[in-house]
Amino acid sequence: MISKAVIPVAGLGTRMLPASKSIPKEMLPIVDRPAIHWVVEEAVQAGITEIILVNHAAKGAIEDYFDINAELDAQLQAKGKESLRQSLRNVIPENVSVISVRQREPLGLGHAVLQAAPVIGEEPFVVMLPDVLLEAADEGVDLGAMIERYQNSGAAQVMVEPVPMDRVDQYGVVSLEGPAPVRGESRVMNGVVEKPHPEDAPSNLSVVGRYVLPGSIMALLKTTRPGAGGEIQLTDAIAELIGQAPVEAYAMTGKTFDCGNKAGYLEAFIHFALRHPELAPVARDIVERHCAH
Ligand code: G1P
Repeated sequence: MISKAVIPVAGLGTRMLPASKSIPKEMLPIVDRPAIHWVVEEAVQAGITEIILVNHAAKGAIEDYFDINAELDAQLQAKGKESLRQSLRNVIPENVSVISVRQREPLGLGHAVLQAAPVIGEEPFVVMLPDVLLEAADEGVDLGAMIERYQNSGAAQVMVEPVPMDRVDQYGVVSLEGPAPVRGESRVMNGVVEKPHPEDAPSNLSVVGRYVLPGSIMALLKTTRPGAGGEIQLTDAIAELIGQAPVEAYAMTGKTFDCGNKAGYLEAFIHFALRHPELAPVARDIVERHCAH
């Protein structure tokens, strides 16, 4: 059973300044919850029970969010606000644990994932990049399907989606043996390259930020040299893994939002507000009123 998800959260979020100057960018709200809550919820819906945050010294607020605030809890209990109290306790279900390890130097995503090696051991695990919010056609379906595929076939899974060719230089980009997988399916990958120039890109299929990987990727990360941007790239370790073990690209069925930049954050906020079970009517009314003027 794959039960662990590594979520690297140590990045300083410079694309979200000044909002992220004194609070972690993952704690900025999307409607009524911090962005990281949506990502952890996606993991839980896919059956993950152990969340490993790879964190930075200045971002303890993320760890506090998944803990119980004893003073607030006691105060809500004393005031009889039981349903609010329960909703805070349910931020993380009882069978799910959240732990954190530190990334002491900003050496790249591959280096961040490597910091979780002592917790992962030999087990396969999930990596989720918290800047990307994912709205699956069905809750948790994409990550859940990737986990199932790994468990059935032993092939590592890398979630992909097509992007316009002039944007491939912002992503990991995969090359495949045959045609692109249809949505909800996987295809064997024969390469992946980090942030290629459009003229060198092997396809327009970008790496979305959800991976199911074997524990053996850690040994590869230990010897991965700095790559694109001078950083130790997870993409480069996956490219090496392809020579040793089956790796597949999984085409997601849902929609992605890059909350690591202002335009993507704004779009995610509006999109999820318009779909919120309680706030959707208010959100629609606000959007319509403001568009009319
Ligand atoms: C990271 C990965 C990249 C992936 C992207 C998805 O890049 O290195 O392969 O496509 O996330 O958002 P970053 O956005 O951290 O530069």
